[in-house]
Amino acid sequence: MGIIYHQNSQELHLFNNQLSYIIKIQSNGELTNLYYGKRIHDKEDFSYLQPGDTRPLTVYQTKDSPHHSLQHVRREYPDYGRGDFRTPAYVIRQENGSRVTAFSYESHKIYRGKKPLEGLPATYTRNEEDADTLEIRLKDPVTEAVILLSYTVFCSLPVITRHVQIMNQGTQKLVLERALSASIDLPDSEYEMVYLTGAWARERHIRVRKPDHGISSIGSMRGASSAEYNPFFALKRPSATEDSGEVYGFCLIYSGNHLEQVEVDTEQSSRISIGIHPDTFEWPLNPQETFVSPEAVFVYTDQGLNAMSQTFHRLFKEHLMQSSWTDRERPVLINNWEATEMDFTEQKILEIAGTAKELGIELIVLDDGWFGGREDDTTGLGDWFVTNFDKLPDGIEGLSEKITALGLQFGLWFEPEMVNPGTKLYREHPDWILCPAERTPSPSRNQYVLDFSRKDVVDYIYGLMERVLSQAHISYVKWDMNRYITECYSIGTAADSQGKTFHKYILGVYSLYEKLTRRFPDILFESCASGGARFDPGILYYAPQAWTSDDTDAIERIKIQYGTSLVYPVSSMGAHVSEVPNLQTGRSTPLKTRADVAMFGAFGYELDITAMSREEKDAVREQIAFVKEHRLLLQHGTFYRLKSPFQENASAWMMVSPNRKEAIVGYYNLLGTPNCRFDRLYLRGLNPDNAYHINSSAETYYGDELMHAGIPIPHTGVCESNVDFSSFIFYLSVV
Ligand code: GLA
Repeated sequence: MGIIYHQNSQELHLFNNQLSYIIKIQSNGELTNLYYGKRIHDKEDFSYLQPGDTRPLTVYQTKDSPHHSLQHVRREYPDYGRGDFRTPAYVIRQENGSRVTAFSYESHKIYRGKKPLEGLPATYTRNEEDADTLEIRLKDPVTEAVILLSYTVFCSLPVITRHVQIMNQGTQKLVLERALSASIDLPDSEYEMVYLTGAWARERHIRVRKPDHGISSIGSMRGASSAEYNPFFALKRPSATEDSGEVYGFCLIYSGNHLEQVEVDTEQSSRISIGIHPDTFEWPLNPQETFVSPEAVFVYTDQGLNAMSQTFHRLFKEHLMQSSWTDRERPVLINNWEATEMDFTEQKILEIAGTAKELGIELIVLDDGWFGGREDDTTGLGDWFVTNFDKLPDGIEGLSEKITALGLQFGLWFEPEMVNPGTKLYREHPDWILCPAERTPSPSRNQYVLDFSRKDVVDYIYGLMERVLSQAHISYVKWDMNRYITECYSIGTAADSQGKTFHKYILGVYSLYEKLTRRFPDILFESCASGGARFDPGILYYAPQAWTSDDTDAIERIKIQYGTSLVYPVSSMGAHVSEVPNLQTGRSTPLKTRADVAMFGAFGYELDITAMSREEKDAVREQIAFVKEHRLLLQHGTFYRLKSPFQENASAWMMVSPNRKEAIVGYYNLLGTPNCRFDRLYLRGLNPDNAYHINSSAETYYGDELMHAGIPIPHTGVCESNVDFSSFIFYLSVV
């Protein structure tokens, strides 16, 4: 692994065993990209890869440089207004209204390791040997602004991360109208764009489309990364599958408004742009100020989508998540939300806890409704203390003592960024919500968004949360965010700084996460946003798991968890068994299927276990024992998708242990098929030479046999049919 600078050719080659990324510094100081893809040998000069840029109807940079046009070259961080005509990565407005800039190469630096990004979540190295970093300094002679482009290449993962810093070293007041994290031009457009899209209760479904001339983009302007479009996309070769073929993956380590875009020009090259969504962003940059963009992650593989996903999973677990819980087995939990919603008493919670203990559950989570005057969703948010002593006679402290005395851990729900009218917080600080004072804020779930761009607001909420968390025995926090941001205006902030509010808001959220996770390093944080509306790499930096979706229907969850696995590790997906008929879909699925889906995740239950029959409780006890026995493998193995619920009437996935001596396969029938075909499932990731038992069968099967000949799918019904919503778990262990 390394970064080599070839002085004669002015080329920089970033590489590891799997990828190469080659930048050329042109004689006029422009930065162009010569190659990004599978690892190739290093050599002095790759300039033959530069496309010819003299064509009719082309704008040149100066009249003496007829071979320097910006229109056809592949650029590293394209500017606006000088003849490129494709999407710029940044736009800087100057005091005279001009947006024309001409940054050119000044110097560069190569060093081992990687520096943190101030105030932002980002990947990190554990040792200096994990990665090398290149910083390229560009300068605009007129404004004297400096752009620092940072590239880190990881040693053992096919990953390059990029971000930029824009520094105003001149005397003008500048305004950043756009400051994306990264841009890259690929030489052709023979790709399919794979992305994750959806809505509440159907988050992160996989969609594929063919980018063609013009722009294909996804993004969010909702103030959260959103359920609608995750900050990720991949470009795959049309022939690439789960297991083979070229895939370029891109994601943004960010939880606010984001843009991911592919622009195919009429010469069929593809420009990728990724960063903060420019439509909701304007950042005044005064002299001596620096703007730091979020970090973008580039993954390259020629081994298909599974390899891309495994790379993201490993990168996030080894170089992004900070929590002490990252590699640990997650406690089996019970959450009271779907059982009681806000209508609970201490007595009821203790009954659930008692049954939970009997069944082998380790953690009970008290969800929404414990604080302030919260009886329904019209009030209470913001008053993070108990006022209703009829409900909780000994407060949270007393309840936490009773629960820990039962031998269970205790967890608590918060929604720190929100406020309801009618609360003490709102009465005392009506100006702490986002909204211009002369407008009426638009409610969503009867609540308003606190102005987290303000430090005093964040400090106030920290004070309330710190008090509860330090006074009670709390080992887990669920941090919710149940509405998107409207009227994004910060009262008391200067008019010309309002364009900063969305980004400053999310920086405020990060600062609260940072303070709380530092103060309580042993607490397991789970993020949530009306289910999975803020499931992104930014939040994972602080909270190693996220509530995947409010939709707990097993069949819907197969799609949601399958889609989520494109980017996010199984250990990060909160997955619970809930009651039937399901509250979101009305569908009834077997208890076994519900558990077989949820066990590939941070596993738990979310139903009234006190109301279960003896048989159901026995089944739950067995499920929990199975999960506990195998959860290191289930949560922290290497994940493979085997069968897509978006393409077939069945789905399957599997986890393989690092030494390939064990594996667990989940197979799920969606709608049953009568008199169905004799189908086989082809496993992945096994050691071809190992012989395995399946579910402690006497018979053994070689790894190569299981991967190439496959295992027959048993039928679940009479007359060779499959029953709706049935499932199998196959546990493989080496002989
Ligand atoms: C959101 C969450 C749920 C639950 C409720 C409580 O919808 O996604 O899991 O916590 O809020 O109000």
